Amino acid sequence: MTDRFSAFLAGAGLQLRRMDDEHLVDFFDCGRDAGMDKWFCQTAMKWQREDMCAVWVLSPADNATDPLGFFTLSAHQVIPGNVDKCHRAADASNKSWVNNLRQPFPAQLLGKFALDGSQQGKGLGAILMTCVYAKHVEAADVAGAKFLVVDVREDDLVTYYSERFGFERSGLIDEMAQMYRPTWVVREDLNEALKLP
Ligand SMILES: CC(C)(COP(=O)(O)OP(=O)(O)OC[C@H]1O[C@@H](n2cnc3c(N)ncnc32)[C@H](O)[C@@H]1OP(=O)(O)O)[C@@H](O)C(=O)NCCC(=O)NCCS
Repeated sequence: MTDRFSAFLAGAGLQLRRMDDEHLVDFFDCGRDAGMDKWFCQTAMKWQREDMCAVWVLSPADNATDPLGFFTLSAHQVIPGNVDKCHRAADASNKSWVNNLRQPFPAQLLGKFALDGSQQGKGLGAILMTCVYAKHVEAADVAGAKFLVVDVREDDLVTYYSERFGFERSGLIDEMAQMYRPTWVVREDLNEALKLP
């Protein structure tokens, strides 16, 4: 998987690196959310140093310090009642016990997801989401994570995540729409995206 993911990125002329002090974040401008830009410039490294999240930065293959986009992942939990029964068990033969679990499901939260304004509307969002899937599946393989979750404020973004990537909407949590994708579905989509020509 790691080799195929590296080849996928190289083929797109891109690289993905965990955020570090060399990234030139001062000019990042997603054009829609000043809070997102400020968080990336001023807070992201602090959060990562405290292991509150991992910050992953997408850059051109030949310019490792230039951020085209970034996302964050953190360990998370989902209450079973927030996931439709039809999405709980990956294997139909496990439905009887998985659907009756009362404990929270392990998950990963896609906390931030943004492209620089100059990179939007060109399909790079789909590549950035493939990077999210790759890191989510790696984390799930290491520590278990049954769902990838994103909490979304704007209605437009609910449409974006559901129509472009197939996230399911589970309900409102503190006025945020919680959306999720089962990891087994993410794995299938990742395998499909990484099929090399
Ligand atoms: C979300 C994002 C990465 C998508 O980039 P992309 O894949 O290139 O997609 P596009 O720029 O074509 O935009 C996708 C749609 O989402 C909408 N959208 C994107 N960010 C939005 C925001 N913050 N608020 C409302 N709508 C937004 C766009 O208007 C567009 O709608 P349309 O399909 O009806 O035209 C990029 O738009 C972005 O960085 N937005 C700002 C940061 C952000 O809001 N991130 C999500 C927070 S969880």
